[in-house]
Amino acid sequence: MITAEEPERIAKVMARAGVASRRDGEAMIAEGRVSVNGTVLESPAFDVKPTDVVLVDGEPLPARERTRLWLYHKPRGLVTTNFDPEGRPTVFDALPEDLPRVLSIGRLDINTEGLLLLTNDGGLARVLELPETGWLRRYRVRAFGEVTQDVLDTVKDGVTIEGIQYGPVTARFERQQGFNTWLTVDLREGKNREVKTVLEHLGLTVNRLIRVSFGPFQLGDLEEGEADEVRSRVLQDQLGTDLAAKAGADFESPRRDALPTAPRPAPAGDDRPRRR
Ligand code: URA
Repeated sequence: MITAEEPERIAKVMARAGVASRRDGEAMIAEGRVSVNGTVLESPAFDVKPTDVVLVDGEPLPARERTRLWLYHKPRGLVTTNFDPEGRPTVFDALPEDLPRVLSIGRLDINTEGLLLLTNDGGLARVLELPETGWLRRYRVRAFGEVTQDVLDTVKDGVTIEGIQYGPVTARFERQQGFNTWLTVDLREGKNREVKTVLEHLGLTVNRLIRVSFGPFQLGDLEEGEADEVRSRVLQDQLGTDLAAKAGADFESPRRDALPTAPRPAPAGDDRPRRR
């Protein structure tokens, strides 16, 4: 059962429950995996009320829980997707075992490392990904080639590359190391491959890309592969009232691991350990 007051689009309710992003939720509906009050949905154009019973793969939506956020130090070599058709290892396969089900806030390319934000709240993920939210993403970059600060400054008011408009990019030369240049790059948009594309446009080939901050959150000395939860009060303060309202963030409900859980009997013959 869901607890929102007003009827809401089904995919939004699923996202808020942390089941899937809105887009993935719509795909799950199209696959016939979602029912409301016993009827399998065929289209995501459907509103649900607080009293409706929503089942995904035959399971009720998780009870509403407090909005939570984790900082994760993504290693190179992992794809940021729930399922990779090419079978490559994913971030979600590699997360520490004690994390509940989470979504990533945006994506990092397979060979990008550093700070990836994770949340249990699809509404928060969506809002922090929106270009208009405009949180600063800061990267440390190693790129093959040479460049001057003057050339880097040519993209400070934005640039159009192959018809795609990129917003302002602040790139600072740090040092030359053999054939490579180290830079710091700041941007606020979150477009696909944006750092690589903009630097390639300036004649540089990125060979190491590390995200060191996203909005107010820093990678700091978080170990590679580790996740660190942001305290609820800190998250609330950093979001502020506007973003929290836009995300529909919930700072009242309990955390899932603080809710009493009824043990579910394992199907006969199934003695595999279960992740929460
Ligand atoms: N820019 C890129 O090119 N790749 C990333 O993973 C993130 C930003």
